[in-house]
Amino acid sequence: MNTNGCSNCAIRGMFFDFLDDPWKHAGMEHEAARFVRDGLLVVKDGIITDFGPYEEVSTRHSGVEITHIQDRLILPGFIDGHIHFPQVRVLGAYGSQLLDWLQQWIFPEEIKYADRDYARKAAGLFFDALLAGGTTTCQAFTTSSPVSTEEFFEEATRRNMRVIAGLTGVDRFAPKDFLISADDFYRESKRLIERYHGKGRNLYAITPRFAVGCTGEMMDRCRQLKEECPDCWVNTHISENPTEVRQAKEHFPDCTDYTHVHEKHGLLGPKFTAGHGIWLSGDEMKRFSKAGAAISFCPLSNLFLGSGLFRLGRAKDPEYPVRLSIGSDVGGGNAFSLVRVLEEAYKVGMCNNTMLDGSINPREQDLAEADRNKLSPYRAYYLATLGGAHSLYLDDTLGNFQPGKEADFVALDWNAGQAAMAWHQSLAVGEGGPATIEEAAQLLFGIMTGGDDRNVDETWIAGQRAYKKPAVSRE
Ligand code: GUN
Ligand code: ZN
Repeated sequence: MNTNGCSNCAIRGMFFDFLDDPWKHAGMEHEAARFVRDGLLVVKDGIITDFGPYEEVSTRHSGVEITHIQDRLILPGFIDGHIHFPQVRVLGAYGSQLLDWLQQWIFPEEIKYADRDYARKAAGLFFDALLAGGTTTCQAFTTSSPVSTEEFFEEATRRNMRVIAGLTGVDRFAPKDFLISADDFYRESKRLIERYHGKGRNLYAITPRFAVGCTGEMMDRCRQLKEECPDCWVNTHISENPTEVRQAKEHFPDCTDYTHVHEKHGLLGPKFTAGHGIWLSGDEMKRFSKAGAAISFCPLSNLFLGSGLFRLGRAKDPEYPVRLSIGSDVGGGNAFSLVRVLEEAYKVGMCNNTMLDGSINPREQDLAEADRNKLSPYRAYYLATLGGAHSLYLDDTLGNFQPGKEADFVALDWNAGQAAMAWHQSLAVGEGGPATIEEAAQLLFGIMTGGDDRNVDETWIAGQRAYKKPAVSRE
């Protein structure tokens, strides 16, 4: 048996993925998911070539080398829609909200990434941490120094990971040494796009950091880059914190709201993602929906920085659905683990429903939105996999086990030793693990509420095992 991985072979095990958005199957969410209790995933050169029940698929591939992953739930690799590479060393900085936190902790740290050695070592730590959390793809911010962007892509290339990132433009609101002029940003972005975009599994995002940190000139340059490189992604922040929203409005007085800043500069559209979006109005949400733009929901960060509670149920309005990913927003988020991010997303939905149940303010009652706020395991793991891919316009490449997609996946151990999971295990697991899709979903809910990255046993990239959890004694 092959234990290190394969690029021209097959993986046997218990698979769980999605073929559709569970929010479209209210009350019957399992219809959006697929559970193959004994499955076979056939991989050639990093691409899935066949998938289905072992009995069926194995007959079509006699002689293929099989790696059998036992007693694990195998899911598509997690997709982190919003994360900051140069914040890997400053998770959990004490005591302030967004704008002060940036000044006090974040810019002083990110300045160090102009040093290639510092950035390179951090890139190693960063990708190790992603893999240990089961994250196989991320859309990342770098810094205003091209060195940090280069080191990010170089490390991603060494690991053959599908990533999106870009030089992160800031030409105001940060220490002088950290600023990059709009012209330099344009020139360096063009160079980096040429060097990295579409090379291997690297994709480039034009990245204006946020409206408070970007002048109109910087935004104009972003527009120019998008016009000249329409194939690139756009990544930014929006409406994260009330003071930030106020400052963005003051800074762009001719814009009617925060979203208008991106509309005005030709950025809001497909392949555009803005992190947070907590304080967007209903009208702005509709404009996101119509434009095909995405929001990355970052609950761990939103609670850590006290930014607010994102209205998931409103974003999933069936008339105006907004494309959504989940993001760790490390280091605003104080963990890499998307399993933990899902836990916080669940809690945010529960808190929002206190506001919507009508007992506090009957005029605000919206039971349909309240129902959409509830993060069932189907909804949660959809966001972390196929939903994230859809939000990034990568659902033809990533997100589930359909043949033709890239073979990135994670093997979850539902029995990683946490006492906190015992209850879910007793509900869901008979002899040999979950027997039905509902039992598997129960167990996945247990992992996201009682678990963490200890439940990530293996992470595979393009058909190769890239991470194996170290053995620990459980005395
Ligand atoms: N807005 C602008 N920069 C940042 C950042 O680094 N983190 C978060 N959470 N919000 C931002
Ligand atoms: Zn962020």
